[in-house]
Amino acid sequence: MSAKADVVEERGVATAPSESVPESARRRVFSGMQPSGTPHIGNYLGAIKHWVAQQVFYDNVFCIVDLHALSLPTDPAALRQNTIGLATALLAAGIDPNQSIVFVQSDVREHAELCWLLNSVTQFGELRRMTQFKDKAGGQDEAVSAALFDYPVLQAADILLYDTELVPVGDDQRQHVELTRDIATRFNARYGETFVVPKADIKPEGARIMALDDPTAKMSKSAASQNGVISLTDDADTIRRKIRRSVTDSGSDVVSGPGKPALTNLLTIYALLGDDTVSALEERYAGKGYGAFKSDLGEAVVAALAPIQRRLGELQSEPEHVATVLATGADRARTRASAKMAQVRDRMGLGLGT
Ligand code: TYM
Repeated sequence: MSAKADVVEERGVATAPSESVPESARRRVFSGMQPSGTPHIGNYLGAIKHWVAQQVFYDNVFCIVDLHALSLPTDPAALRQNTIGLATALLAAGIDPNQSIVFVQSDVREHAELCWLLNSVTQFGELRRMTQFKDKAGGQDEAVSAALFDYPVLQAADILLYDTELVPVGDDQRQHVELTRDIATRFNARYGETFVVPKADIKPEGARIMALDDPTAKMSKSAASQNGVISLTDDADTIRRKIRRSVTDSGSDVVSGPGKPALTNLLTIYALLGDDTVSALEERYAGKGYGAFKSDLGEAVVAALAPIQRRLGELQSEPEHVATVLATGADRARTRASAKMAQVRDRMGLGLGT
């Protein structure tokens, strides 16, 4: 039986508690990102931007999930470089290590351990129904790794280790958070109240940014063509070129809505990276055609990414700072995770209590 769908969908940023709320009383947030390439504006608008905007209100744990990246073939040197690159990008985008724990998943062994234990309360059929598995396996079920199949259980372990209440993610992670809720509920019923049952925190805007060259496909780090993907590190000319060449809908009106997937996506990106609403933009570009719109959108994206790229440049020359943030983050995460695992092992009757 499936736990009742429970998703927090809010507009804008959280409004409730203030910075004066002590960390111990703040709601617990956990989210993760794979170090499988440079983050793009989909990752930024669907996840990172919300993590940054909300971090003062919550007790946050943000994880670079390198163990998840192993579910597809990876080169060790590239994985390490991507891990450091993603950590640097998160800090450049505004994640503040004084507000949030930032760490690398494989530095905290409890994630892999809890994954194995949760496997024992997860059904094979549940994993077979995961749409991300079907997409990533691409019909090659016999050849893909068992890690790709088990991926959502490791994600459940990530979330459940930290008594997480809210999981801020893009729309593509909805089903994984639902499964996490089912696993937690089943574990609690079998072994006694152990895990907090988390909720996905998915904002209606930006939860699904589409590829610029194919508005029916999600913008993705692993896309075959990078023409549809604006990476956080793309230079100004590359950004302008990708937007100029982006696919548009038939007609010439700058309007969003059904039947206008390309313009809806471009207007969403413009509105979320700038200060205007989609309807204000539609009004501004009425009768002006796609050319002027794309040219201004290009400048808006360049301007929005400029401060992040500037900070990225600074942080790239301070690798010791990034390493210290990750080491401190791992220590703090390990303290929480090991306390939780002691409880879980005890509940499950594992070990001899030494
Ligand atoms: P990943 O690395 O694919 O993506 C990281 C975050 O970015 C969001 N996202 C998008 N949002 C809007 N439009 C897009 N085109 C887009 N592409 C990606 C994702 O929804 C995600 O929030 N399985 C996770 C990583 C993970 C995790 C976790 C997340 C591992 N453990 C625990 C939350 C909690 C993933 O592959 O994300």
